[in-house]
Amino acid sequence: MRSLIHSLLVTVLMVWSTLAELRYVATLEQDGEVVDASHIEFVPIPPLSHGKHAGYSPSSRRDSNAKNDISYSDNWCGVAHRSTSSDPVTNIFGYFTVPDLTLRPGIPAPQFAAAWIGVDGAKCNWTMLQAGVTTVVNSNGGQSASAWWEWYPEVSYAIKGLTVRPGDWMAVNITIQDERTSRVVVTNAQRGYAITLALTDGPKLCRLDAEWILEDFYEKNEQVAFAKFSDVWFQDVAATTAGGKTINAEGAAMVHLRNRTGTVLCRAEKWDNSNFVVFSTG
Ligand SMILES: *[C@@H]1O[C@H](CO)[C@@H](O)[C@H](O)[C@H]1NC(C)=O
Ligand SMILES: *[C@@H]1O[C@H](CO)[C@@H](O)[C@H](O)[C@H]1NC(C)=O
Ligand SMILES: *[C@@H]1O[C@H](CO)[C@@H](O)[C@H](O)[C@H]1NC(C)=O
Repeated sequence: MRSLIHSLLVTVLMVWSTLAELRYVATLEQDGEVVDASHIEFVPIPPLSHGKHAGYSPSSRRDSNAKNDISYSDNWCGVAHRSTSSDPVTNIFGYFTVPDLTLRPGIPAPQFAAAWIGVDGAKCNWTMLQAGVTTVVNSNGGQSASAWWEWYPEVSYAIKGLTVRPGDWMAVNITIQDERTSRVVVTNAQRGYAITLALTDGPKLCRLDAEWILEDFYEKNEQVAFAKFSDVWFQDVAATTAGGKTINAEGAAMVHLRNRTGTVLCRAEKWDNSNFVVFSTG
């Protein structure tokens, strides 16, 4: 009897846990004051496979000038750095500019680049949590940018109703309360607003690594056309672990984006452990 009750209980709990799904509550602040957020829309967009960026080449080499380890990825440039499961990541922060694009000659428009900050993009096989901005440049050179957040493999949400322009300074601050509960703050430092998303019942995080990335992402299993861009600085980058350790660019490889036919299209260069730049090449 006891074991039947036990197994019923387990069944009920499992059903409950499969029913639980990601929920979010948004709060908007303007210049530090909470303001009405009812004009903001969160438009679900299919996950942009931002999550599939883990495959950077393990064969890193030393850059003789910069004395940084370099590795290559075919879809992103920037920094990813890890902690250990015994000392999980609890916060990740950084400033970056919204990519300011120009058309890359010889490939079709529209062209894109996404800048974002996140956790669990490298070692965790089933999830990652991230927020950032995507800029698109059209055939006439006109650009539009939009902020988004995503707890992969749930859908991404484009944040509509807040102005974001190429070159704006943004900040992302992700605080992980527990494996399924996080707080994501996306700030546009230029325009004085900050949107806070209180997220619950998300896919279980590993909390193993932190990343600061510029990406040529995938859409419907195809990599989007990658634009040229003005230098994108990532500043004051830092992740904190439960044990109080700081993770940043110290000891991390600078990951360059090299396309499938071997052309490097983005390089990452460290200024110091908290600041680095990614720049367009190729
Ligand atoms: C992720 O998958 C790889 C390959 O299947 C496996 O070796 C690794 O242990 C997995 N990582 C985690 C955190 O489960
Ligand atoms: C990020 O958010 C956490 C939690 O609210 C806060 O303690 C921390 O100071 C923030 N980090 C920065 C750099 O603003
Ligand atoms: C890689 O980039 C170069 C230079 O833009 C381009 O000629 C080539 O077609 C690209 N390869 C792929 C697979 O996109």
